[in-house]
Amino acid sequence: MSTIAPANQAPIDSSRPVREPCTDPACGCGKRSLPANARAGSSQREQRTLKITVLRFNPHEPGSRPHLQTFALEEADGMTLYMALNEIRETQDPSLQFDFVCRAGICGSCAMLVNGRPALACRELTQKLDTVITLAPLPVFELIGDLSVNTGKWMRGMSERLQTWVHAQEAQVDLRRLEARMDPELADQIYELDRCIECGCCVSACGTARMREDFVGAVALNKIARFRLDPRDTRSDEDFYELVGDDDGVFGCMTLLGCHDVCPKQLPLATQIAFIRRKMVALGWK
Ligand code: SF4
Ligand code: F3S
Ligand code: FES
Repeated sequence: MSTIAPANQAPIDSSRPVREPCTDPACGCGKRSLPANARAGSSQREQRTLKITVLRFNPHEPGSRPHLQTFALEEADGMTLYMALNEIRETQDPSLQFDFVCRAGICGSCAMLVNGRPALACRELTQKLDTVITLAPLPVFELIGDLSVNTGKWMRGMSERLQTWVHAQEAQVDLRRLEARMDPELADQIYELDRCIECGCCVSACGTARMREDFVGAVALNKIARFRLDPRDTRSDEDFYELVGDDDGVFGCMTLLGCHDVCPKQLPLATQIAFIRRKMVALGWK
């Protein structure tokens, strides 16, 4: 039976059967985090009870109002926030909404505010956090429910607006031809920026993006930097100026650097934004 847990009480239903643990140590599916009655003696570490407060709201449910709900659960070895949320959903409240796909920091879907700071739930170890944890959905993006937001819709809009794909010359598009060789150093530079997983953390951490919905955000400026480097992309700096050479683009950035601080892939956003701004300013002076 699901219960709403008061902050100071662990709502573990003793009538529930003990779940079988997942036996794959590299899996990360959340089933390694066993209920307390199956975990005795599994760790030398001090056993902690986590109190996880979640901002709950389902905009699609008539009568739903934003409110905080606290769940208590026993911490397991190597537990991530994703695993904790999974356990809460399995043992306490199946209606809790949050997103995940890869559980390995690759898909970007589990981003949320962890104690007010954007982060990936599947990469946040609970042992690195205090026992009292507050979770909320990422701001800026459309709320689907609880911790789940529609980053995909925002990213698609940004991608279509800035045309974030390689603009090759028609004559080059011949799928039977061997790929042209690329200097490994340049390929590395492109790869470095291409590691973006579109998690949305940088957008949520940006004061400008939160105030102005048309601001393209650090994720977009990083993409411009990436395609500008790519020798297969035929666009010139004049073309990129048309895309981001205004207040909704690179000149709207106030160098708040929240984006750079929270990016879970440690992309060099501050450097890239400064570089693109310098290039666009140079064009503006011409
Ligand atoms: Fe996430 Fe970093 Fe990409 Fe922003 S730039 S969407 S924070 S991976
Ligand atoms: Fe925002 Fe990053 Fe600029 S936080 S204001 S995009 S430096
Ligand atoms: Fe894919 Fe967290 S579940 S990044």
